Amino acid sequence: MSNADVVIRPFEPADLPGVAALLGDAMPADPISESRFTRQVLLDPNFKTQGAPVAVRGGTIVGFGLAIARQQPLENAPPDADRGYITLLAVAPAKQRQGIGAQLLAFAESYLTAQARTTVMVSSYAPGYFIPGVDVNAYAGALQFLKKHGYAEVYRPLAMETSLWNWSIPAWVRERREQLAAEGTIIAPCTPATTLPLLEFARAEFPGDWVRVVREAMTRIVAHGDSPTRLLVASDRGSVVGFSHFDNERFGPIGVASSQRGRGVGQVLMFATLQAQREAGFRTAWFLWSDDKTAARIYDGAGFEETRRFALMKKTL
Ligand SMILES: CC(C)(COP(=O)(O)OP(=O)(O)OC[C@H]1O[C@@H](n2cnc3c(N)ncnc32)[C@H](O)[C@@H]1OP(=O)(O)O)[C@@H](O)C(=O)NCCC(=O)NCCS
Repeated sequence: MSNADVVIRPFEPADLPGVAALLGDAMPADPISESRFTRQVLLDPNFKTQGAPVAVRGGTIVGFGLAIARQQPLENAPPDADRGYITLLAVAPAKQRQGIGAQLLAFAESYLTAQARTTVMVSSYAPGYFIPGVDVNAYAGALQFLKKHGYAEVYRPLAMETSLWNWSIPAWVRERREQLAAEGTIIAPCTPATTLPLLEFARAEFPGDWVRVVREAMTRIVAHGDSPTRLLVASDRGSVVGFSHFDNERFGPIGVASSQRGRGVGQVLMFATLQAQREAGFRTAWFLWSDDKTAARIYDGAGFEETRRFALMKKTL
């Protein structure tokens, strides 16, 4: 069959199993269950079926793409009304290099143009991204494909992981924590009373997605019984100067007030969170998105090693 036999049309409800199966085949490093797809895509208030092209050939789903134009501003994030995001793009392995990817991409881009977006990012979409860009090892073909279609690399984020099997907090970190305590900086699990100072801290220090992280984590803690250790707070005589978060094996985000950096608060927070993850029963900790500078400054010291490398890509429409 030729390219002409392929129909590209918006996502329909009955496509869910076929799309999930296709994503498992085409993006084997990132399989997505139907329930995760439902939560992260279909229930996303920014999702529109017109931005989700499905390629069908002979009644079978052979391709899928996902373009997002934010409809509801993200609390505390810089406005991105001129930006669109492509977070998924996949063609069944046996059907690749027949022009289907190009058709999906054209459909996705014209949706974004219709939504008045002038820039496309693959894929810094908060909070619903799956991966921070094209995995340059697992999806090398996609990197070539996107370059051919006018996308340029912005930078290369990395994912890291550390083992918590044979693990303990180094003596120097314990000493640093005592030293900080003597100076009035205490690291402790969040409490209901830290809710407002923590929200204010995230709002003031980290414009972006972290206010949402704090809201959701505090909600899980006060309403669903999650351990308060998943959100550790560094405070200095009552004011918040940093926090660190985990969600099961996933580590982060972690942030320290710009005026407080260089005192070891970040290191102590990181080790305390890894310890909390270990105590919760996890034997590995990972995150999907950092940059080389932060990795060298803080994560290498806790044994984090690079697991994946991504190319964050951008195109002007
Ligand atoms: C990226 C992807 C969607 C492209 O779909 P496609 O239907 O193969 O793309 P097209 O046929 O329209 O375009 C093919 C062109 O893309 C580039 N390309 C695609 N796969 C390639 C590969 N494995 N190696 C080198 N170039 C490749 C080439 O320029 C190719 O042209 P050519 O065949 O004439 O050399 C598809 O390869 C895919 O599903 N990959 C796995 C999933 C993935 O990586 N998704 C992106 C994650 S962010």
